[in-house]
Amino acid sequence: TVSEQFLQELPKCEHHLHLEGTLEPDLLFPLAKRNNVTLPDTFPQTVEELQQKYTQFKDLQDFLNYYYIGTNVLIQEQDFYDLAMEYFKKVSKQGLVHAELFYDPQSHTERGISLDTVTAGFNRACIDAQQQFGISTRLIMCLLRHTTVPECLDLVNSAKALIQDGTIHGIGLDSAEKPFPPELFKDCYSLAKSFNPNLQLTAHAGEEGPATYVSNALDHLNVTRIDHGINSTQDVELLKRLANDRTMLSVCPLSNVKLQVIDKVGNLPLQQLVDNNVPFSLNSDDPAYFGGYILDNYLQVNREFPQWDYNTWIQIAKNAVLGSWITEKRQDEI
Ligand code: ADE
Ligand code: ZN
Repeated sequence: TVSEQFLQELPKCEHHLHLEGTLEPDLLFPLAKRNNVTLPDTFPQTVEELQQKYTQFKDLQDFLNYYYIGTNVLIQEQDFYDLAMEYFKKVSKQGLVHAELFYDPQSHTERGISLDTVTAGFNRACIDAQQQFGISTRLIMCLLRHTTVPECLDLVNSAKALIQDGTIHGIGLDSAEKPFPPELFKDCYSLAKSFNPNLQLTAHAGEEGPATYVSNALDHLNVTRIDHGINSTQDVELLKRLANDRTMLSVCPLSNVKLQVIDKVGNLPLQQLVDNNVPFSLNSDDPAYFGGYILDNYLQVNREFPQWDYNTWIQIAKNAVLGSWITEKRQDEI
């Protein structure tokens, strides 16, 4: 193992963080009150009861059911700003220097909240995070794969100006993975890319879904990064491809345990990724739900991969910098 202080001070980049997944119970209930939002009768009614529920989820869908109810309390531009600022405040104390942040506009537009309201709140927080904490940021707009392709095409079209001016730096694909293979969203990705050749592309694949979803995301969506991707280890040829192309996997250790993708962090195939030279970063996914922010994920991996020395950790941190969608100047600064 390495010292916890070393991991605390190590400059860290996060590439897999859903802003809506940073909604802590102690913000959820006040926002519900502030916005007069009634939560379903079946939803826990106190912070304690909700925290209790978050100790374990059956699977990804069980978590998503709570996650989408949580999003209902976000209404005003200020709510989105406050949510993101709470996240930045926490991780600024954990050695985070760069964050690439997912958000799910469709979970808000379906309730009549405009894409511009959501994006403006999150983007204003990003600007303040740079100013107040020196954290650089990128926003990644996700398509919800449980919705329909026409709905996703509508979202991409409505985001045209934000994609063109770079406010939206990347496109992602999330929500229930298994019955929705990445290739379904091929036209959505190519349309988005046609708006701005500098747009970056990633997709959740190989979390609950098989390695073929990872290959298909590379082949059909032209992504340059894979979110989760741990099931890539089912296919040795795919591992070679990821290593050769320097395609980074954004791995989320505590998430995988809470969603019962694996039974403990030590069972993640991280040593196999290291041995095959596949770049990966460590991330928190939905930290309010999964019991830990970025540093907590690093610390848990350190405990369960005690064979890793300082050089291994420095290489992981470097790969995270190199896999970030930032300028060479910013890479050198970090
Ligand atoms: N939405 C928020 N977190 C997610 C995850 N881990 N997988 C798929 N969709 C998500
Ligand atoms: Zn995720």
